[in-house]
Amino acid sequence: MQARILAIPGDGIGEEVMAVTIRVLREVAALTVETAEAGYGRWQRLGATIDEGDVERARKSDGVLFGCTATPSPPPSTYRSPILRLRRSLGLSVNIRHCRSATGHPMDVVMLRDCSEGLYSEAEHPTPDGAMAEYIVTRAATERLARAAAAIAKRRKGEVTVVHKANVLRRTDGLFRQVAAETLEAAGVAWNEAIADAAGYHLVMEPDRYDVMIMTSQVGDILSDVGAAVAGGLGLVPSLSLGDGPPLAEPIHGSAPDIAGQGIADPTAMLLSAVLLLDELELPRPAEAIRTAVHSHLAERLDTDPPTSTEEIGRDIVDRISL
Ligand code: IPM
Ligand code: MG
Repeated sequence: MQARILAIPGDGIGEEVMAVTIRVLREVAALTVETAEAGYGRWQRLGATIDEGDVERARKSDGVLFGCTATPSPPPSTYRSPILRLRRSLGLSVNIRHCRSATGHPMDVVMLRDCSEGLYSEAEHPTPDGAMAEYIVTRAATERLARAAAAIAKRRKGEVTVVHKANVLRRTDGLFRQVAAETLEAAGVAWNEAIADAAGYHLVMEPDRYDVMIMTSQVGDILSDVGAAVAGGLGLVPSLSLGDGPPLAEPIHGSAPDIAGQGIADPTAMLLSAVLLLDELELPRPAEAIRTAVHSHLAERLDTDPPTSTEEIGRDIVDRISL
């Protein structure tokens, strides 16, 4: 049976990087790729960022490829983030982000963040003088995150850094730290810890200091952008979310309205996200073929005349694929 993938390009450069990715996937893997619309563009036309039926199609698929969507700031009251909606509907909680440099620079860090709770639970309330947000940490989600980190660490250096702010958030991050440590110990993986702000500093100053890191949702959102900057750019970092339902792969970058429509977006992060999805679907041959082609492209992009358009990059990567 062919795996059935639902591809949701989203807004801005999402369309451009997804088009290249679908073309490359069709080149290497026998997959059924269907598409669905989501994002700000859809909200402006139809008043909802994603159709219920498409959320259901995502749930019934074998895997979802998500591009990126634009969010107006501040979002209108009827605007709901489609990615948060999808992650919740698919029961996804472990978001894996691989910040790996394409240059000789020593960054190669796997960050795992919870994406089901923390500060991104969308549980916000007005107060008489302002507003408050709930910061939610549970044992179950923390254990899941730490188990996933342990499995990855066993294939790497065997050590996980628990990133937290338990010096201030004693109950919530205190619980995160404790449950993560217990779970890692039970899995036979060494652990150490870093305070979130110091981790940001050290990622920049000493990029080979960390190997596998776990953290709550907002810390991971911020540190993965820092990691991407050190690794060479937001256009390079893929991610994969795992949980109860089908896996969802997405680049960590946004819809980049400043360059959207110009055909110059880097499709690398979207392509490497598709590779993570293929790995998860146990399709190692096409996964390896794309991974090798992307890495060979990146290695040469540095010392040759760099291809500047999404189209050219896509063509160069397709040319490098050998099955
Ligand atoms: C990202 C984004 C999302 C996240 C937001 C839009 C929910 O910032 O993918 O990094 O934090 O996961
Ligand atoms: Mg982000």
